[in-house]
Amino acid sequence: MKNLVILISGRGSNMQAIVDAQIPGARIAAVISNRPDAAGLAWAAERGIATAALDHKQYSSREAFDAALAELIDGYAPDLVVLAGFMRILTPGFTAHYEGRMLNIHPSLLPAFPGLHTHQQAINAGCRIAGCTVHFVTAELDHGPIVAQGAVPVYHDDNETTLAARVLEQEHRLYPQAVAQFVAGRLRLDGLRVLVADETPTSARLAVPLD
Ligand code: GAR
Repeated sequence: MKNLVILISGRGSNMQAIVDAQIPGARIAAVISNRPDAAGLAWAAERGIATAALDHKQYSSREAFDAALAELIDGYAPDLVVLAGFMRILTPGFTAHYEGRMLNIHPSLLPAFPGLHTHQQAINAGCRIAGCTVHFVTAELDHGPIVAQGAVPVYHDDNETTLAARVLEQEHRLYPQAVAQFVAGRLRLDGLRVLVADETPTSARLAVPLD
């Protein structure tokens, strides 16, 4: 069994998708939030999953918070740390500690639009395609070896809300798949590239439900 520790900051819909996927060989060891009032914490606790909150406002520096967070996470002996809407900039020490064993999902087709307001940025840039990316975490924000991407069309009358909803549907499909590939030992890092074992040349890491 591989232990997963999932970090959230809010509603935790990606965390829910991963829990609901019941990934073979994976055990959700804990769900941790930097916001004690995160809705996702209550959802996980109701399902008997261990939960913890570590309020970043109680710490005087990013380094101090990240050190306490790493100690908390490591208490659950994680094989994989899953960032699921965890809205914190991470210190280099923290990302180095979990190198090769921490995934993030970001609501854009990276390397386009790291940071916030990704959907508005995609609309403003006139993109015809938007989407989401699952990647290994490095010290650089919303950057790192890409495991999988999901794409959606951008319609001329889209706004941030409608586009976000379309992308979120892909996030919920993509993230459990990527976590399952990690758990099955199918992901291998080759520099900035991720090689997926047993992937046929045509099987899509980029799944485009375009119409
Ligand atoms: C998701 O759209 C996720 O991709 C995004 O926050 C949302 C969290 O929703 N993450 C980032 O922007 C990270 N840079 P959720 O709490 O319902 O999973």
